[in-house]
Parts: sequence; structure tokens; C-alpha cells
Amino acid sequence: MHINLSYTNQVSDYISDYILRYNYDKIVCLTDENTEVCYEQIPYLRDNDDILKISIPSGESNKTLETVEQITEILIEENFSRQSLLINLGGGVISDLGGFIASIFKRGIPYINIPTSIMGIIDASIGGKTGVNFKHQKNQIGSFHLPNDILISTIFLRSLPQVELINGWAEAIKYAYLNQNLKYLPIDLKLDTSEVNIEIIQNCAEFKREIVNRDYNESGLRKILNFGHTIGHAIESYSQEINQPIGHGYAIAIGLLVEMQISISVNGCSENDLSQTLKQLISKYYYPLPFDLPNVVNLEKYLNADKKNSDGKIKMVLCNREFQFDYDCIVSSLEIENALQNEVWLK
Ligand SMILES: NC(=O)c1ccc[n+]([C@@H]2O[C@H](COP(=O)([O-])OP(=O)(O)OC[C@H]3O[C@@H](n4cnc5c(N)ncnc54)[C@H](O)[C@@H]3O)[C@@H](O)[C@H]2O)c1
Repeated sequence: MHINLSYTNQVSDYISDYILRYNYDKIVCLTDENTEVCYEQIPYLRDNDDILKISIPSGESNKTLETVEQITEILIEENFSRQSLLINLGGGVISDLGGFIASIFKRGIPYINIPTSIMGIIDASIGGKTGVNFKHQKNQIGSFHLPNDILISTIFLRSLPQVELINGWAEAIKYAYLNQNLKYLPIDLKLDTSEVNIEIIQNCAEFKREIVNRDYNESGLRKILNFGHTIGHAIESYSQEINQPIGHGYAIAIGLLVEMQISISVNGCSENDLSQTLKQLISKYYYPLPFDLPNVVNLEKYLNADKKNSDGKIKMVLCNREFQFDYDCIVSSLEIENALQNEVWLK
């Protein structure tokens, strides 16, 4: 598997060179209402009347089949074909949604990701997982469809609100633990966008590329990237259900903490400086949630629908006594409930 990651701040020149190299009959760029400002930063797109821009309302609640249908309708009306290119310009919602459309439209068209959020840059745009939510359940419908290119640039981060920076750093925290390299742990998450640590960004993106290159279909190793995501996705879905949506990263941060607690109680992982640092960082920046931490009954339907499960068992990634990560660990509802209720991990 080869994943193209291109780092440049000369985005407009890069895209125009890229497009000249291929014989696309039409080009569409997908943005959301907030990332339209990024479109304006790319003269090649902004000044080219032949490029169709489709902008959707922002937010996770739009990562749905309804939006897929609306966009597909436009592409058909505008005579897009298999020789057409889709450019996803936005955060993880845009790359998940647009990537999914690219994977099914006319049975698959080429696309490139230009991520504009930290979450998109270090995680969502890389690896070819695409999809939409279904009835508040995260990513229940989707596909593996690799982008032809991923363009990593920090120029778009200038307009990213700080709350979204912190949101994205949750995945960087996860990588630092998986990689066992706290050198790349973002510590001061309140830094503003002009101070974003490029070294951390590149390290995260390269770590994800490396894992996906080794196990694209997620038959083994790639599963470790789901650390924090069983609980995190369930909390994120629950927040949508109760109409108090929280960012993906905020949910994942709590997921990391709860799954670390489960690792300590059932998988031989010991409390040490590493787990303490995780607790401090997450309780400082991501806690409390805008609603009470749900109990296992509130989360059950989401936990049971998690894509990592099989044989009717909830499976998650847990840290072990060597501080390495095991995947496919079977965890009971009671063990999850104990961790959720054990607020000692927040102190
Ligand atoms: N496919 C994968 O491997 C993968 C991995 C991680 C996350 N995800 C998915 O990604 C999504 C979360 O990504 P996200 O946090 O980027 O969400 P998002 O796309 O909703 O972006 C967050 C917010 O920031 C705004 N925004 C983005 N870039 C901006 C910019 N440069 N300037 C101003 N505003 C900007 C967006 O409009 C949105 O309001 C979730 O749906 C999650 O499931 C997918």
C-alpha cells in the first residue's frame, strides 16, 4: 500500500500542477460553511470558473446519507463522470463524507484530501477510511477508498478556532501513547494556531501513514489506532442523540482515559507516570463534558454496534503491563461501567 502525503504551503501551485498532470473532465471541491474561507485562500480554485464548489453546513450531524444524496444529485446534474476529480477541503467530516461519495459515485472516482483541521491533518485525511453516520451511530456505513493524494499544509490553521485545535490534539495524545514517545505529546494545548508545533503534526501524520501502510485493511496492527475509540465513539454518538454534540476529539479524549482505566483494572497495566500524565492532560483540557458522563446503559446500543466487535462481544484496544497495546480485548459491560463510575481517574 502506498499513501501519498505531500507537505507544502504552496497549495495553489501544487494543485494547479497536480491537475495539469491528469486529464480530468471536471473538478468539484467540497467545503463546509467554515472552510469556504480556505477555498478563498487557494487562488487556483477561487479564480477558476470551471471548478464547481459545493459547500455544506458544518458539523457531524451532516455526515449522513441525506447529504450524500444531495451531493450526488448535483454531480449527476452537472454531468460528472469517472474521469472527474473530487477535492475535499475541510476537516474530518468533509474527508469522511467526500471520500465516501468518491468511493461510490459511478463505482468510484479519484479524490484528493486537503485537510484544514488538526484532526483532519493528523488523522482523518490519511488512510482511506470513509463513511457516514447512521441514526446517530458513528461511521456505520462506509468504505475503504484511498485518496490519490493528501496535501498537508498549515496555512489553513489560521482560521481554525482554538476549541477545534484542542479537539484535534486528542488524536496526537493518542499517537504519543501508541508510539511510546512522549517527546511528541502536545502539552500546552492552549497555544494558538500560529504556534502549532509542525514537528508534532508531521510525526503524527507519518505514524499514521506507517501503520496504514503496514495494515491497510485493519486486519491486525491498524486496530491499535482505535485506542480510546470504543468509549469515545459511544460518547460522541450519545452526545448527538441528546442534542448536545461534542467534537470527536473531546469524546475520544474521555475514551482514552476510560480505556486506560479499564487497562489498569483488567489488562495488567499499572498506574505509572505515563498514565498519570494522561489523566492530568485530559482532565485539564477535556473535562468536564457539557453533560454528565453517561453510564453504560446510556452507551450500550452504541457499544454493541461498534465495528470492532464480533461474536456479540465488545472488543477494544487496551494497554498492557509492558505499556504496549493489545487489540481485540473482550470487555464486559460491568467492567466498562466500573471504569465510567470510577471518577478517581479524574483527580
Ligand atoms: N476516517 C478516519 O480515519 C477518521 C479519523 C479521525 C476522525 N475521523 C472523523 O473526522 C470527524 C472529526 O473531524 P474534525 O474534528 O476535523 O471535524 P469537522 O470536519 O466537523 O471540523 C470541525 C469544525 O472545524 C471547522 N473547520 C475545519 N477547518 C477549519 C478551518 N481551517 N478554519 C475554520 N474552521 C474550520 C469545521 O467547519 C467544523 O465546524 C469525525 O466525523 C470523525 O469520525 C475520521
